[in-house]
Amino acid sequence: MRSREVVVITGASAGAGRAAVREFARHGASIGLIARGREGLEGARREVEACGGKALVLPLDVADAAAVEAAAEQVEKELGPIDIWVNDAMTSVFSPVKEMTAEEYKRVTEVCYLGYVYGTISALKRMLPRDRGSIVLVGSALAYRSIPLQSAYCASKHAILGFYASLRSELFHDHSNVHVTMVQMPALNTPQFGWVKSRLPHKAQPVPPIYQPEVAARAIYYAAHHAERREYYPAWSSVKAIYGNKIIPSLLDHYLARVGYDAQQHDGPEDPSRPNNLWEPLPGDHGAHGTFDNRARSHSTELWAETHVNLLGAAALVGFAAAAVSSFLKPGRSPRRKLHHIWQQGKRQLLRKTA
Ligand SMILES: NC(=O)c1ccc[n+]([C@@H]2O[C@H](COP(=O)([O-])OP(=O)(O)OC[C@H]3O[C@@H](n4cnc5c(N)ncnc54)[C@H](OP(=O)(O)O)[C@@H]3O)[C@@H](O)[C@H]2O)c1
Repeated sequence: MRSREVVVITGASAGAGRAAVREFARHGASIGLIARGREGLEGARREVEACGGKALVLPLDVADAAAVEAAAEQVEKELGPIDIWVNDAMTSVFSPVKEMTAEEYKRVTEVCYLGYVYGTISALKRMLPRDRGSIVLVGSALAYRSIPLQSAYCASKHAILGFYASLRSELFHDHSNVHVTMVQMPALNTPQFGWVKSRLPHKAQPVPPIYQPEVAARAIYYAAHHAERREYYPAWSSVKAIYGNKIIPSLLDHYLARVGYDAQQHDGPEDPSRPNNLWEPLPGDHGAHGTFDNRARSHSTELWAETHVNLLGAAALVGFAAAAVSSFLKPGRSPRRKLHHIWQQGKRQLLRKTA
């Protein structure tokens, strides 16, 4: 029997994808590593092998559907049937819409949106006949709430959301055991902000609060193994942006007009001629982290809660059951008062258990 999970990760050479490689490797997976830069991929391969897993370096551009399909074929041949496919690769252009070009929109859409579609098609082609497997779409709070200066990226994330909801319904329609889920990430400390093409006058930064890529990696790993759940919001900032946008979208348009430019830039002018990764990868192994280690959080309470929903549910159930029993055993209360008492007791027990 096969003991190692077979996983494919796009964007495996750097950032959140690289952190996810480490997380899956730590759990003993064999991994197909997709990105363009060979040095980053080789670094990721060494990390998987150090954990005892097998790794396959697959240097390709996710905007090339045929290359993605050939990679999936190679993974199945060399590592075995694919259990999990993680779509993570991204690029962006930090720029106001009025300065963007048609080619830039096309490129960002082809990498960020179509790259996910191509990966999902190749995964489904293999998972559906076996009726098992899970697909993780690494999303963003910006899939719901666009921000200024990142229109092409935000639109791609919205597009993924649209694609994924259709697919999820189709899988239900077909009673499939293949699952797809989306993880709406908060701001992460990844190399993105130092290599994405930028027209901003100052250096780009993730909009605080910033989380370490390991938080993203843990969310991806958990989502891959609980992919029946529709979506994951691994930080309070994701929850706020997503629900805030549902309730007060117009107000947020105005708010972001005021604060959204500065929030995406930090001290120091950007070098207008610095190289970027829009069309080609940059040389070197850039690893998982960006330059914001001293400002980034390694823990997210929301992620903890998201990954302990069953525990919280069980705690609530125990709390309510205990309250119900003790209340009904007490004589002399009206049924209404008893119900109120059960509710209050249950709440107290839940708070105590989750503190
Ligand atoms: N960082 C954040 O604040 C943040 C927030 C919310 C969501 N996210 C999401 O998290 C995911 C990872 O983002 P990140 O910040 O880790 O990005 P990142 O640091 O820029 O890393 C991007 C990864 O994608 C690969 N890549 C870029 N273009 C590619 C292409 N055309 N073909 C194949 N691979 C390509 C890069 O490797 P090569 O250059 O070697 O190809 C790299 O491995 C994305 O889906 C992003 O939307 C990030």
